[in-house]
Amino acid sequence: MAFLADALSRVKPSATIAVSQKARDLKAKGRDVIGLGAGEPDFDTPDNVKKAAIDAINRGETKYTPVSGIPELRKAIAAKFKRENGLDYDWQQTIVGTGGKQILFNAFMATLNPGDEVVIPAPYWVSYPEMVALCGGTPVFVSTKQENNFKLTAEELESVITPKTKWFVFNSPSNPTGAAYSADELKALTDVLLRHPHVWILTDDMYEHLTFGDFKFATPVEVEPKLYDRTLTMNGVSKAYAMTGWRIGYAAGPLQLIKAMDMIQGQQTSGASSIAQWAAVEALNGPQDFVAKNKAIFEARRDLVVSMLNQATGIKCPKPEGAFYVYPSCAGLIGKTAPSGKVIETDEDFVSELLEAEGVAVVHGSAFGLGPNFRISYATSEELLEEACKRIQRFCAACK
Ligand SMILES: Cc1ncc(COP(=O)(O)O)c(C=O)c1O
Repeated sequence: MAFLADALSRVKPSATIAVSQKARDLKAKGRDVIGLGAGEPDFDTPDNVKKAAIDAINRGETKYTPVSGIPELRKAIAAKFKRENGLDYDWQQTIVGTGGKQILFNAFMATLNPGDEVVIPAPYWVSYPEMVALCGGTPVFVSTKQENNFKLTAEELESVITPKTKWFVFNSPSNPTGAAYSADELKALTDVLLRHPHVWILTDDMYEHLTFGDFKFATPVEVEPKLYDRTLTMNGVSKAYAMTGWRIGYAAGPLQLIKAMDMIQGQQTSGASSIAQWAAVEALNGPQDFVAKNKAIFEARRDLVVSMLNQATGIKCPKPEGAFYVYPSCAGLIGKTAPSGKVIETDEDFVSELLEAEGVAVVHGSAFGLGPNFRISYATSEELLEEACKRIQRFCAACK
């Protein structure tokens, strides 16, 4: 009898964590390394949110909470969906999880049977296919194109839907590309989904608050209210309020699905941390100036990185609408020889040679299902970003 579960053989370790670890190892050996692999804001959690957590501890809010979350937070979530997205959810239709990650996991665990297909546009956030596989489903990938700024077209979506499709996973702004769909672009996809009433929509709106210029965020049910009965709208406080370590994510959707997810969570974690839930109440209900301030900082960083990368030989970097990632192509360097003498054959070769030669850690595109590209997280200071981009330019110029 094998000791480890068969399910483990279906999952891969996270490439983004592996890159961060490699960068840490090199730093520990004394190398000067700039890590652009991690997907978290470099800001501190706002003071009013920290204070709400401290107050909760002092009030003794330190016991188990209802599995789906404290009513105060679930009401704040329902109010957020109304205020910011125009969506009507009763607070009983919401659920709080230990990060957005657990919400996604619960949804897949509660609904996937062997043979069920989950459509995932590529490039994708690394965890979607692994979660689907762990829960016994089959990820079905559909590639987007860089010339379409990595946005899925109606024809591409239509081409992968089968009678076995259970979910379509939608993520805008996207990790890893930063691409965000306007309401019109999204409407082209929701029109396709209307024609396939057996397909459910899981929309991961985690980067909602990080969009730039006059871009206006849109979510599927806002664009097509007829999808209300088969959409799970997921979001969280991790990226918007610099609260990655607090581990609070949430979702709203049809009651039957929320109850099924509550059942899974009840046997798994019993619910999210009481203290972090009180902090999230303040994040959602309190002053929102933190969000606008950080958005402006991220926008300036995006502009810097896109402009400097497009000056590097062989690199082409689209300008994304949101998140804190760019996803440039390194196709122009494939076939060239790196300063070490190694021929760059893949995007994985490109990132490992870049790390060796210049100490800049980025993640190869093939880890996200589409290459030859690489992902840069620009959630770090302009000073470091400028230095990292200079090193990338130098590396690209040195490849012959
Ligand atoms: C697209 C996307 N969804 C969900 C998550 C998970 O967020 P959380 O930290 O709240 O679990 C992340 C985190 O990197 C993400 O990039």
